[in-house]
Parts: sequence; structure tokens; C-alpha cells
Amino acid sequence: MTQSGGPRIEINLAKIAHNAEALYRLYGSKGIELMGVTKGVCGGPEIARVLVNNGIRILADSKITNLQKMREARINAEFVLLRTPALSEVDSVVKYADISLNSELAVIKSLSATAIKHNTQHKIILMIEMGDLREGIMPENLEEFIEEVLKLSGITLVGIGANFACFGGVKPNEESMKKLSALAIEIEERFSLSLSYVSGGNSANYSWFMDTESTGHVNNLRVGESILLGRETLCRMAIPGLFTDAFTFVSEVIESKIKPSVPYGEIAQNVLGVSPEFQERGKIRRAILGVGFQDVLVSGLTPRLDIEILGSSSDHTVLDAKKIDLQVGDEVAFSLNYGAVLSVMTSHDVRKKYINVI
Ligand SMILES: Cc1ncc(COP(=O)(O)O)c(C=O)c1O
Repeated sequence: MTQSGGPRIEINLAKIAHNAEALYRLYGSKGIELMGVTKGVCGGPEIARVLVNNGIRILADSKITNLQKMREARINAEFVLLRTPALSEVDSVVKYADISLNSELAVIKSLSATAIKHNTQHKIILMIEMGDLREGIMPENLEEFIEEVLKLSGITLVGIGANFACFGGVKPNEESMKKLSALAIEIEERFSLSLSYVSGGNSANYSWFMDTESTGHVNNLRVGESILLGRETLCRMAIPGLFTDAFTFVSEVIESKIKPSVPYGEIAQNVLGVSPEFQERGKIRRAILGVGFQDVLVSGLTPRLDIEILGSSSDHTVLDAKKIDLQVGDEVAFSLNYGAVLSVMTSHDVRKKYINVI
């Protein structure tokens, strides 16, 4: 409990710097370079700069506006669009991204035509489907696909990649990484080219990386959550030596009263279209925060005090204060998971406060 200030997220830049440097060294020890994924923090230049100052020379984001923001802030990095572009946005992809991840020939052809028009080359990494079933070219179609890509004079094929544990929850493991390595070798031999990036996945690749004796041809990972929150993402285990508390969400109590613990009256649907159930606890101190699910993914918040979140509407969050005497004006601090960080960083009404600026 602290005093004063509106809803805000406190971002400890020294802790993020420590995580970035530690991961850069760890992954570098077996020949893997990291792309720092900035979408979790909306491409915030303050954070992007910290990543770059701690060894990360490539920044990747899924929003072109975030790439633009970082470029305009003169962040000294190479910029990657972390998803396949839409046909309707190829102009801005060529303008703001040095590299984009791709899986559709129609889009790549359009990127090529745009790059030629602007007298430049656009670099692409081809995403390969390896089980998670989000984006990617099926491995059996890869050779034919690359034949077509190599005909396009505005495009340079710089790598292949795969993504895991994002949609289907599929683990990257020794078998899938060996398969990706083998595909890279096959492509290099078949087309007499050299792939600068064999990008094996994301923060979910930590356990594979720690256990494997050889990373093979895999030389790159695109990592966001581990840098920001210090965790791998298969089990959300804390990575030894990293900070898991670089972000703190703070909100103020706007009402605090002793009331029943279960709603009374005729029960129908609430704002989310459900009839929620509550545990009978007798009379409790119910403290209300002036933020709700329009501001933050409330389910991704964990109170730092021994209190409990009972639920939220769009702009109120109701707490059981338990034994803590929360009063109007008190501020309550929470840890955030990745989803909560994402939601807060895109919320206009939550102030971003950078602390331990280095
Ligand atoms: C294609 C791709 N690569 C990498 C990442 C980074 O994932 P993580 O934050 O789990 O490291 C994401 C998601 O943000 C992604 O969509």
C-alpha cells in the first residue's frame, strides 16, 4: 500500500537491462543470437533503447506502428515485422521493416514489387509450420515455394523460422529443432545460398536450449516474455538469475466498505453476459479500484498484498481486502503476466512510469 498518483504501470528499466544482457550472454554461449520482441511494450523507445544497449541488435514487433515509433525515435537496430504482412500494408512494411516473416507467396510478390518501386530490397524470413498450427509453409511445399521466391528481384531470402507454443501450445524440442536445422541445410545446398537466420522459436525454447548439446543450424530466437518478465513460457518457470518483477501495476482505492460477500436480489447476467458465482465469506471489506477490464487484463494481475481480486467490470475492480485495512486513496500494487503487460501498455488511461532509468 502506497500513497498518491493515478493508475500506472511502473517499468523498472534496470531490471529489464539485466534480463536482456543475461539472456543475450546465455543464448550467445551456444551461438544463438536474440531478436528482442518489443510488442509487449508497444515498441516503447525507452525499453527498445535498453535492449539495444545490452547487446540486442535486432528488434522485432508485430505492429508496423511500433516499428515506425522505434525508427522515429532513432533506435539503432535492425527492425523485423514479426508476422506475415497483410497485402494492404506492404508499402509501410517495406518502409519501416528491414525484414518481415512471411508465409504467403502473394504477399511476397507484392513486397517485391513495392521494394522495386522504391529502388530497394526487402529481406524475408520464411516461416515453416512445425506443429503449432499458426503461421507457416508446410515443409513438403517449401522447396517449390522457395523456387518462386528466388525469381523475385525485390526480395532477399535471409532465413527460415518456426514458431511454437503460441497457438497450439506445441513444445519446441530436440526433434523439431533438428528438423528445422536439417531443412536449413537442405535449402542451402539445394539453392546454393546461405541463410543468415535459422530462427527456432521464442521464449518457449529455453528448456530445449538448456538441455541440448548442440543447437545445430539454429542460430536465432525471437524473445519477448523472457526478457520482460524473466520466465520461460512452457510452464512460466522463472529463469535463474533474472528479474520477474520489472513491471508493477498500481491503482487507487475509490471505495472501501464492509459489505456482504455474495450478491443479493434476483440474479441475471452481468456485464460480461455471465452469472458469476461467489463464495459465502460473511461480511468482508470490499475495496474498489478505479480501473477495470478496459484498462487491464484483470485476470493477469496478482496482488502483492494478501488480498484477493473478486472480479471486475469495465472500469471497476472489486477486491476482498481480507485483513488489510484498505482505505479510499490507498494505492494497491500488482504483478502482471504478459497478457496484462500487453493490455496496460496499449491503454491510454494508464500512465507509464519508468523507474531506475539507466
Ligand atoms: C512469431 C513470433 N515470434 C516470437 C514471439 C515472441 O514470443 P515470446 O514473447 O514468448 O518470446 C512472438 C510473440 O510475441 C511471435 O508471434
